Parts: sequence; structure tokens; C-alpha cells
Amino acid sequence: MQNPISSGASPSPARAPAPLGFGRVFTEHLLMLQWSQGRGWHDAEIRARADLAMDPAAAALHYGQSMFEGLKAFRGADGVVRVFRMDAHLRRMQNGAPRVAMPGIDIELTRTHLLELLRRDAAWVPRERGQSLYIRPLLYATEPFLGVRPAQTYTLLVLLSPVGAYYDKGMEALRIWVEQEHVRAAPGGLGAVKTGANYAASLVAAARAKANGFDQVLWLDAVHRKNLEEVGTMNFFVRIGDEVITPPLGDTILAGITRDTSIALLRSWGYKVSERTIGIEEVVQASRTGALQEAFGTGTAAVIAPVGELGVGDLRLRLPGAPGEVGSRLYSTITGLQYGELEDTHGWLSAI
Ligand SMILES: Cc1ncc(COP(=O)(O)O)c(C=O)c1O
Repeated sequence: MQNPISSGASPSPARAPAPLGFGRVFTEHLLMLQWSQGRGWHDAEIRARADLAMDPAAAALHYGQSMFEGLKAFRGADGVVRVFRMDAHLRRMQNGAPRVAMPGIDIELTRTHLLELLRRDAAWVPRERGQSLYIRPLLYATEPFLGVRPAQTYTLLVLLSPVGAYYDKGMEALRIWVEQEHVRAAPGGLGAVKTGANYAASLVAAARAKANGFDQVLWLDAVHRKNLEEVGTMNFFVRIGDEVITPPLGDTILAGITRDTSIALLRSWGYKVSERTIGIEEVVQASRTGALQEAFGTGTAAVIAPVGELGVGDLRLRLPGAPGEVGSRLYSTITGLQYGELEDTHGWLSAI
């Protein structure tokens, strides 16, 4: 890039550090849109990335009225940059906003300006297989007011970050701690929304699991403390015998786009996929009888993260085949689609 780097921007793509890691390098521009009561969305602007000016009384800072999305653009071997499931991600943001009393985004307007931002910073989309451009929309309350009520002004910003693999280990199997003390989300709460509070609630358990040699936690339901919910910031799948099982969506589980993609692919391949409640005891039993075939997380960041071990109290359940047959097939198919190597029969990709 020949453009001068504005304050707060990252090194140019040619000088971006290798390996990229996840979420540390940012492109030169960001998209900002404003919302106020009466006017709706207005003042869309692509500007140089720089520190934000924000009133210290802005509601997002005090009461956490904010939410975000996470999606990716990929550069294929043919040079074309494609965004994976853009509309599904924008729709999820639009649908989630009312739960935290925020205005839904304008999908058409956001898509148009997002594509413009991507074209502007297209040189930042990495060329290597395995790397991509992470797109982070963030919607937050800006009204300077300390009363506790929905704010009356909001900003939607979108920043871009060239990324490598989310987990340093790549497709290497993860060690997962089944969390029995903390919960991520409760019925009637915010678990189905990508609001910052859910991630704040998850940090201590994840850090504790890490300190004990695990990579992430598997969350159990808040009421019975026995049913599987999510794994870290991914949806969870387990294959027992010939059944691929993932917990059903509800108000405690994020409706993952990779989850949806995986279910659609698995069903099209003839696998039996059940979206049903599954207790940790069933997994322990399946491990004892040898029926437990594989387990993996699904998410935009890692695509498929195979699980090699589950720590359940003093028990250590090992899943020796990780990555397993189903996880591997999903990984190669989804990444093949993302990099434009497989035909996009589902209409999941948008070329910029
Ligand atoms: C809590 C949580 N669950 C699941 C997912 C996976 O969702 P997706 O596949 O849409 O990235 C994410 C990441 O976005 C997440 O933060």
C-alpha cells in the first residue's frame, strides 16, 4: 500500500507481521454509520482508522449496550475476494439488536457500504490459504446519559482485520474443560445475542481452564448444570454411533452460522443430524461403551475445531481420532467453498 498510514492504523499488508495471529492487525479504514431517533440510520462514512471520540457518559461504556458480529472474506486462488454468508451475519445482527433494546441495522444499507469498505481495503485480504480478512461490525450506544434506559443514539462501525488461524494449534485437537461452576447464559437472558456481556461472563472460566492446561470450556445449561450448550465461542457437535448431535437453539445458545452451514452440509450428505438436548452423562456413557466417535466446535474463527479430550471433574475422556471423519469433511468442504475451489450451490458467497 502506498497510502500514508494514519494514526492507530496497522502496518501495511506488505509489512504485516507473520504469522498474523487473530485480531491484532487492522486495515486502514473503517465504516461508521449513525442512528438517532426520528432520523434512523444516517451519515454513513468510510474513514481512516483512528481512536474514537466518545463522550465519557456514553451508555455503551456504562451499561454494556452493545453487540457485534464476526464474518470473513477470503481471497481465492483466482484472486477473487468472497465474503462467506454475509446476509446471514447481517440478519443475525438485525434480529439480535432488539433483545438489548437497540435499533436493528439496515441490512441493505450496511451491505452496500460494507462492500465499499472491502473494495477500499481489498489489498489487505491475505493471499495465503488459511488466512482471511475478519470483518467485525460493532453496534453501540453513544448517548451521553447516565439514566438506565435504552439510549437514543447509536453508532455502527465495521473494522477489518487480516487474520491467520484462530487457534495456534490449527486443526490440532483441543483439550476442553467441562465447566461446572460458572454458566455462560441463563434462560430468559442474553445468550442468543452477540452482546459483550456474554463474553465478559465467560472470561474467568476460560482463563481458569487455560491455567489448568485446557484450551477452552464446554458450557453446561444454567438450570440443571448437565446439558451441553456451547464450547468456548463455538457451537458444539458430538458424534455418537451414527448420530451427529448438536444442542437445540434457544435463548441460551448463539445461532451459529457455521453450525447452520454444517447441519445443511451434513444433511445433504445423508448424515443423521439431531438438534436435541444432550446431557454430559450421555457423552460419558458413550465414551465408556466406545460409541463416542468425535466431537468438535464450529465457528467463523476456527471453522471446525476438533476436540481431543474432555475434562469432566476427575474424568478425562479421550477422543483419539480427532480430527474425526465428519469434522474433517466439514472443514475441507467449508474452506473449499470459502476459497472459491468448490461450486457455491447454496449461494453462500458474495464476491466483492
Ligand atoms: C458464543 C458463540 N457461539 C457460537 C459462535 C459461532 O458462531 P458463527 O458460526 O456464526 O461464527 C460464536 C462466534 O461467533 C460465539 O461467539
